[in-house]
Amino acid sequence: MKCRKCGRRAVAILKAYGLSLCERCYPEFYLNLVKRSIKRYGILKPKEKILAAVSGGKDSSAMANVLKKLGYEFELLYIDLGIDHYSSESERAVMELAESIDVNVNVVRLEEYGFTVSDVRKRLRRKTCSACGTAKRYIMNRFARENGFDIITTGHTVEDIVSFYLKNVAGGMRLWAEKLLPRNEPFDEKIVARAKPLFEVSEKENMLYVLIESIPFTPMECPYAPNPEWKEIVYEIERRKPGFSKNFIRGLISEKEEFDHVKYCRLCGEITNRDICSFCKLRMSF
Ligand code: AMP
Ligand code: FES
Ligand code: ZN
Repeated sequence: MKCRKCGRRAVAILKAYGLSLCERCYPEFYLNLVKRSIKRYGILKPKEKILAAVSGGKDSSAMANVLKKLGYEFELLYIDLGIDHYSSESERAVMELAESIDVNVNVVRLEEYGFTVSDVRKRLRRKTCSACGTAKRYIMNRFARENGFDIITTGHTVEDIVSFYLKNVAGGMRLWAEKLLPRNEPFDEKIVARAKPLFEVSEKENMLYVLIESIPFTPMECPYAPNPEWKEIVYEIERRKPGFSKNFIRGLISEKEEFDHVKYCRLCGEITNRDICSFCKLRMSF
C-alpha cells in the first residue's frame, strides 16, 4: 500500500480514517490529530503550569513527546510504585524520555508513604490494581497541588475510556462521567484539574508514533495487570467497525455528572466522598 500523501511505501494503515501513510508523513498526521483535539475540546489552556504523569509506557511517552513538539511548557511526574523489576525498568525509560525532550522529571516513591504495590499484592491480593489506582491518583493530585501545578495530564487513550465505560455499564455500576471527559475542572480547591490530551487517539496510533520517532519507552507490562478482557472487546469491535471507539467517545463527551457530596478526609484532609479517604484506608492496612 502507498502513502496517500506522497506515494512512498505506507507503514501506518489507519482504518478509522480510511488512510495509509508512510513513516515521514505519519508523525505530522499524529501531531495534528492531538493538536486538533486539544483545541476543539479546550483540553489545555494557554500558560497553564502542566504536570505530565508518565509511566514509561508507550502512551504517556508519546503524550510527553507530543506536548513538547506542540510547544507546551511542562514537567514530568513518575511515581515509583515499588513493583520490583517493572518499576525500575519503567523509571529507566522515563529518565531516557526526559533526557530526549529536555524536560525536568520529578519522582515520588510510594514507599515514602510506608508501603509499595508489591506489599499490597502480598497482603490484599485481589485488590492490587484498584489500590494502585488509588495511590496513583492521590500522589498525582497531592504532588501537583503542593508544587503549584495547574493541571495534570495523563496518557489515557480512546480504548482506556471506551473500555472503562463498557465495563461499568455492563457491571451495572453508577457511571463516573468525569473520568470519561477529556478535561476535568476541579470542583474543590484541593483538586488539581486533569486532562487527557490523547483521549481521541488509539494505542496503535501511539505505538506507531513512538516507534517511528524512536521515543524511549518500555514495552514491559505491569505483572499485576488484570485480564484485559474489556480492552480486547473494544479491539474486536474496532476490528469489525473501524472508527467505532472514536465515534463512541465523541458521543460520550456531552454526558457530564455533578459531584454532589464534597468532604475532607478526617485523617489527612484530602478530598473524599466519605469520612476517611480510600488512600488512608489503604494505609491503615499496613
Ligand atoms: P494506567 O492507570 O496504568 O492505565 O495509566 C494511565 C495513565 O496514568 C498513564 O498514561 C500515565 O499518564 C499515568 N501513569 C500510570 N502509571 C504511572 C506512574 N507510575 N507514574 C506516573 N504516571 C503514571
Ligand atoms: Fe498498578 Fe500494575 S501498575 S497494579
Ligand atoms: Zn508519505
